[in-house]
Amino acid sequence: MKPLGVGIVGCGVISDIYLANAALFPQIALRAVADLRPEAAAEKAAAHGVDAVSVAQLMARDDIDIVLNLTIPAAHVEIGLAALEAGKHVYSEKPLAGSVSEARRLLDAAEARGLRVGCAPDTFLGGGHQTARALLDGGLIGAPTAGTATLMLPGHERWHPNPDFYYAGPGAGPLFDMGPYYITGMVNLLGPARRVAAFGVRARDRRTIATGPRAGATVPVDVATHVAGVMEFASGAVVQIATSFDVPAHQHKPLELYGTEGSLLIPDPNRFDGDVEMFDGAWAVQPMTHGHGDGNYRGLGLADMAAAIAENRPHAASGALALHVLEAMEALLASSDSGRAIELSTTCDRPAALAPGAAVGVIRTVETI
Ligand SMILES: NC(=O)c1ccc[n+]([C@@H]2O[C@H](COP(=O)([O-])OP(=O)(O)OC[C@H]3O[C@@H](n4cnc5c(N)ncnc54)[C@H](O)[C@@H]3O)[C@@H](O)[C@H]2O)c1
Repeated sequence: MKPLGVGIVGCGVISDIYLANAALFPQIALRAVADLRPEAAAEKAAAHGVDAVSVAQLMARDDIDIVLNLTIPAAHVEIGLAALEAGKHVYSEKPLAGSVSEARRLLDAAEARGLRVGCAPDTFLGGGHQTARALLDGGLIGAPTAGTATLMLPGHERWHPNPDFYYAGPGAGPLFDMGPYYITGMVNLLGPARRVAAFGVRARDRRTIATGPRAGATVPVDVATHVAGVMEFASGAVVQIATSFDVPAHQHKPLELYGTEGSLLIPDPNRFDGDVEMFDGAWAVQPMTHGHGDGNYRGLGLADMAAAIAENRPHAASGALALHVLEAMEALLASSDSGRAIELSTTCDRPAALAPGAAVGVIRTVETI
């Protein structure tokens, strides 16, 4: 296929891995970068041999088909809408938007224009999660009935010099921070969720910064910092999800799935690699059967979207999937506030499984081979 041209808006921390990985994927050709801070764009452009332009110039370029939106969450919808208005597809870092209603504006605009929206995370396309998916789909643990999703940490103020945004404001709290990885991972394995309930608690009203120039200062907390929930999937499977900034240490695996015939331990959904362990009478680490399982392949979902546009098929890391995950997170918090279980209004297709054994950069779905 002829590669689709990509322009990056947002040249901060996460842009480095996308810039470095672009060369791995023949489905895309990186053309230009832009940022509110021109010096940030100039630095990345010089390091990676692409053009540094303004956001408006990037949107106006004919050789850019997809805008890769790596700005801060508060700017995701604004930049996404601008790209769609310029006739370009959008692939965004997570979260898709700050709220379900904002995310719907973006998806409605894309649908009206016949353009695609894609969204991180794409780690579920990595070798670890695709190996687990193949074992599950192959019936090796029988019918999945239950599972756990566990992200529990002592809190980012231990290492982050400015942790304010983790504890107050839009997107604050452990669920919005890390939930997209865990819930997307579960939707890849089990399909969409149907109903959720949760309880939340806040261990402390202020957190003390441990490092950097503000060490010793405290930041206010206005969110639940431990959220314990239950998600009922449309398949009937029930998953306990715990996200926390209040847990000093624990020994749970990130994701566990229990079927009628066996159990699966699934690696960190923030990574592409990691061991899958299965119990089918005894525990054993399973061989990695799928590609993109030996490193950080952020951008794989973008490359899949470019290939899907060329092949006229759905892309895996879709806007519909990201909207569903966002609604599940909003609903878990709303349940914690209201004390009631909440039915989800959105759903999505389970992303197509990838074919085993693909080399880096090759993206084939099971359905297409
Ligand atoms: N840093 C990480 O490890 C990490 C990991 C996974 C996902 N993410 C996600 O990636 C996104 C970016 O995170 P980051 O850590 O790179 O943030 P960052 O603050 O380092 O970089 C964001 C960049 O976007 C630019 N920007 C903001 N608003 C803009 C606008 N309207 N127009 C043009 N440029 C604009 C900023 O100037 C900045 O250079 C976030 O959505 C975050 O959730 C980050």
